[in-house]
Amino acid sequence: MTVTYGHGIDGLPEFPGDAVLPQDLGGRLFLQICGDDPDAVRDAATRLRPDGRLRWREQGFCNSDRTNGLGFQDGIVVPKTAEEFDQEVWLPDGSTIAVVRRMKLDVAAFTAMPVADQERVFGRRKHDAVPLSGGEEVDLSAKTPDGEYVIPADAHVRRAHPLTAGAGLMLRRSYNYAEGLLFISYQRELKTFVNTMYRMVDGDALLRYATTTSSAAFRIPPLN
Ligand code: HEM
Repeated sequence: MTVTYGHGIDGLPEFPGDAVLPQDLGGRLFLQICGDDPDAVRDAATRLRPDGRLRWREQGFCNSDRTNGLGFQDGIVVPKTAEEFDQEVWLPDGSTIAVVRRMKLDVAAFTAMPVADQERVFGRRKHDAVPLSGGEEVDLSAKTPDGEYVIPADAHVRRAHPLTAGAGLMLRRSYNYAEGLLFISYQRELKTFVNTMYRMVDGDALLRYATTTSSAAFRIPPLN
């Protein structure tokens, strides 16, 4: 089991479309308790009760095939090598910045669409996560014979792509919860998240099915 904690920081704006009540905005302390055994995690969450008022807490889970509530694999494009972690995630002192957003998903509306339309929302195939442009990596420039983008202009992987967003690569480590996605990203600069989110707000089809109901940013101190 791991326990990660962080101190609340300023600088995360409210984004258009956010529906965050005052008690679900920000927070001074972040506790993330992770483990394989849900009972042990629940028990630790009950015992680790710092002084102060609990703003909100949520129980997340991962599916073994890494799919989210909409049935698509998540967490594919993330930093992987030690160099990428140093460049994108860790600050020189070994700390990092976490963004935590609870996003409610309209699963019924999303899954009512034909699978081909669902795939156009993400820009990847549903059953195996292959980019609609084929191959391993998303090719944003790929076009159909008619000159249309293969990865649609409003597809999530285009809107959130570091090249489109003009942002760095964040380490996304999201969890499912009963009503949607507990989005958590770690990055060395808050603006990596902020710039990406602004690009999404500007026309990401996924946001038609996702509403943010809690939002906060924290500094996670170094391990030692
Ligand atoms: C309910 C909300 C969300 C869902 C269900 C979701 C799901 C996904 C999925 C399935 C992928 C494709 C697979 C992958 O690369 O991991 C993806 C990619 C990505 N998402 Fe999200 N996401 C959500 C919100 C966000 C938010 C809020 C951000 C950041 C502001 C974000 C940033 C990214 C990035 C950077 C990628 C990689 C794009 C690329 O380079 O191909 N996502 N997301």
